[in-house]
Amino acid sequence: MISTLPITLRPHRTLLVIGGCGYIGSHMVKCLLDAGHRVVVLDDLSGGYRDALLGGELVVGDFGERTVLEALFEGRRFDGVLHFASLIQVGESVRDPALYYRSNMAKVLTLLEAMRDHQVPALVFSSSAAVYGEPHYVPIDESHPCTPINPYGMTKHVVETMLRDFAVAYGLRAVALRYFNAAGADPLGRLGERHQPETHLIPLAMQAALGTRPALQVFGRDYDTPDGTCIRDYVHVDDLADAHLLALEYLWSAGPSTSFNLGNGAGFSVQQVIDTVAAVSGVPVPVEEGARRAGDPARLVADAARARQVLGWTPRYGDLETIVRHAWRWEQLRPDARAATRRYGNEQAT
Ligand SMILES: NC(=O)c1ccc[n+]([C@@H]2O[C@H](COP(=O)([O-])OP(=O)(O)OC[C@H]3O[C@@H](n4cnc5c(N)ncnc54)[C@H](O)[C@@H]3O)[C@@H](O)[C@H]2O)c1
Repeated sequence: MISTLPITLRPHRTLLVIGGCGYIGSHMVKCLLDAGHRVVVLDDLSGGYRDALLGGELVVGDFGERTVLEALFEGRRFDGVLHFASLIQVGESVRDPALYYRSNMAKVLTLLEAMRDHQVPALVFSSSAAVYGEPHYVPIDESHPCTPINPYGMTKHVVETMLRDFAVAYGLRAVALRYFNAAGADPLGRLGERHQPETHLIPLAMQAALGTRPALQVFGRDYDTPDGTCIRDYVHVDDLADAHLLALEYLWSAGPSTSFNLGNGAGFSVQQVIDTVAAVSGVPVPVEEGARRAGDPARLVADAARARQVLGWTPRYGDLETIVRHAWRWEQLRPDARAATRRYGNEQAT
């Protein structure tokens, strides 16, 4: 189904990357530029950084404003849209669901209507493992029931439903990619994770090792796992970007709308992450023990066989040590290294 031409020999395209100044979006821009495509980034810089763009053109604006989209779509022809822009904190979505339903759902409807009206042919959407809710079995495949347990996950699930309906009614074809835990950084140290506040385990563990934040909180050591801590599936951010490029190729080859899991299929425990960060950095990670949190399952691991089979996706960086090594390089090189980590929040993910 997918073209067998090497990516470098395929015709160059023009892509709109919404949220391209953020963590995953900036790695996507790098990947598209490396493949020779033309890139326009739309980002309101609410959670992203100008200096995260290695190239392409930046338009600063809110993708939920129809006038912003009209100006973009009237002026040029896009071969596809990659949509990364959303709010991403599960706890915040529980405290302020209206914010999440507005930003992650209502605004996406505006985007889909604009794409439909301008016949933009393909969309790749950043979905999440949060669409599944409590796992009924692991590894989780795409036929697992979708019963999200928080507003963040629900917004992703509803957008996936909108994509399905827009494909049937208007022919707007889309791939939703359900990431598990995005991790790692550009191997050359130019890009990486800079969330404010940071809630992801690997950067938090590294910052605890560096002493730029207090001890890392571990939420529960009594899970039914080999070392008692929760197990998650960490997938390298450059591998995520590769999968997006393959998803575009799939849509351009007339592949029907669908969803794919993206994970490396190997779960790693919180304690394994702590040990790996200590080994890579050469510094012990100070830890503070906490109780279990509501809604944290013991194991969340992807079955990503479909993405491998249908898209031909082959992750390059499956081992935790490489993921942490790249993230550690970024953590030391990032432009805001000291200032940013002083402004930490109080929410933390497993
Ligand atoms: N990071 C993960 O582990 C993970 C896991 C699963 C799913 N996802 C999904 O991947 C996507 C990207 O995540 P990330 O970690 O790169 O987030 P991020 O916060 O680093 O990037 C989001 C970018 O979108 C921009 N943005 C937000 N609202 C906007 C708006 N209204 N208009 C224009 N730009 C806007 C921000 O400025 C930022 O640059 C999100 O949709 C997230 O839900 C991430």
